[in-house]
Amino acid sequence: MNRERSRAQFARARRVIPGGVNSPARAFGAVGGEPPFIARGEGPYLYDVDGNRYIDYVGSWGPLILGHAHPEVVAAVEEALRKGTSFGAPTEAESELAEMVIEAVPSVERIRFVSSGTEATMSAIRVARGFTKRDKIIKFAGCYHGHVDSLLVKAGSGAMTYGNPSSPGVPVGSTNDTIVVEFNDVAGLEAAFAASRGQIACVILEPVVGNMGVVLPEAGFLDAAQALCRSQGALLIFDEVMTGFRLAYGGAQARLGGVKPDLTTFGKIIGGGMPVGAYGGRADVMDCVSPVGPVYQAGTLSGNPLAMACGIATLKILKRTNPFPRLEAETSRLAKGLAAAATAAGVPHTVAQIGSMFTLFFNPEKVVNQTVASRSDTMQFARYFWGMLDRGVYLPCSQFEANFVSAVHAPTMIDETIAAAREVLGTLG
Ligand SMILES: Cc1ncc(COP(=O)(O)O)c(C=O)c1O
Repeated sequence: MNRERSRAQFARARRVIPGGVNSPARAFGAVGGEPPFIARGEGPYLYDVDGNRYIDYVGSWGPLILGHAHPEVVAAVEEALRKGTSFGAPTEAESELAEMVIEAVPSVERIRFVSSGTEATMSAIRVARGFTKRDKIIKFAGCYHGHVDSLLVKAGSGAMTYGNPSSPGVPVGSTNDTIVVEFNDVAGLEAAFAASRGQIACVILEPVVGNMGVVLPEAGFLDAAQALCRSQGALLIFDEVMTGFRLAYGGAQARLGGVKPDLTTFGKIIGGGMPVGAYGGRADVMDCVSPVGPVYQAGTLSGNPLAMACGIATLKILKRTNPFPRLEAETSRLAKGLAAAATAAGVPHTVAQIGSMFTLFFNPEKVVNQTVASRSDTMQFARYFWGMLDRGVYLPCSQFEANFVSAVHAPTMIDETIAAAREVLGTLG
């Protein structure tokens, strides 16, 4: 595949933008080589500036569950655009999207919109600390919650890929109150609570992790987290930036059932590809937020009208068309096809899948936490990644990411992807 123009554009970008990218994973550091520069997207396809077409399993890292440039979403944004790009004053669209999220996610009684997932988790942590009047927080190794200082400890995703879990520039003081426990480790969580009795403000987790590759909660883990939080007076925060409206219309909490978090963070799909994040939950907790309560949080572009229009249109389509059963079936078929191809090629692997999220781990062990995830063969992943890209399949450029299927990936594309994987994996065994 010829990517000459992308190569030239990457050289140009690197002269003016650190690493040529505005978010590190995009630089392909984990797989080596240079990224294609994207010219446009259409449905399930991405087109690069050299005219190459790819079946897209990244979907802008999660938001594009309806594929690229869905005509109804584009029309809604165009209509909003003609009325003005930002007002810094209340609009009807903000209440409309808030009502849609609250209707879909019963644990959310009030919600505040921000402009990214990072802002959402940062704000939720602040609210939890303000509400409980406690400072310490518990997070899990391999869960990524954005680049919030206090959460950039043993973070997954790009931070894991780059082997740089905590970052220079994060003062020791801002992570002193962050306790890290291994995912799925109930005993570890109990020990953390016991060691800091009466001091834990909240536990934050991805109910299904996407940021060390897809890792599912073991039976009883989320219930145990909820029970411990309740008994210790701490809040439970589900970070559903990735899983919200992805695993079900009501997110992971609807899909998995049972556990009702006190606060939930959103991003990605609720903005339909526009910069939107949100945090919401129990009314008594959310009423701590300024101007009702004392916890300060604000944003010039929060609840931006274009972003709200994009999110509303996206959620309306999801609600009307309910693509979730089909997404689950097709993604499961894809996951099984990849596993069969890896087995036939003699490549040690496991595949994790739920709803339209999956990861093919180059690791024969079931991945239940970051320690196991980190034993994956990333060199083999890199060869797989490039083989797939050269056959027109655009995958996340790291072993430690979730792959996403969209509602417009046709069965024939799933077949094509499995056929490409058979070829590529056949060269790795
Ligand atoms: C679970 C989770 N939380 C938070 C974030 C941060 O969101 P953003 O990149 O919009 O700041 C991400 C981003 O990938 C995420 O996956």
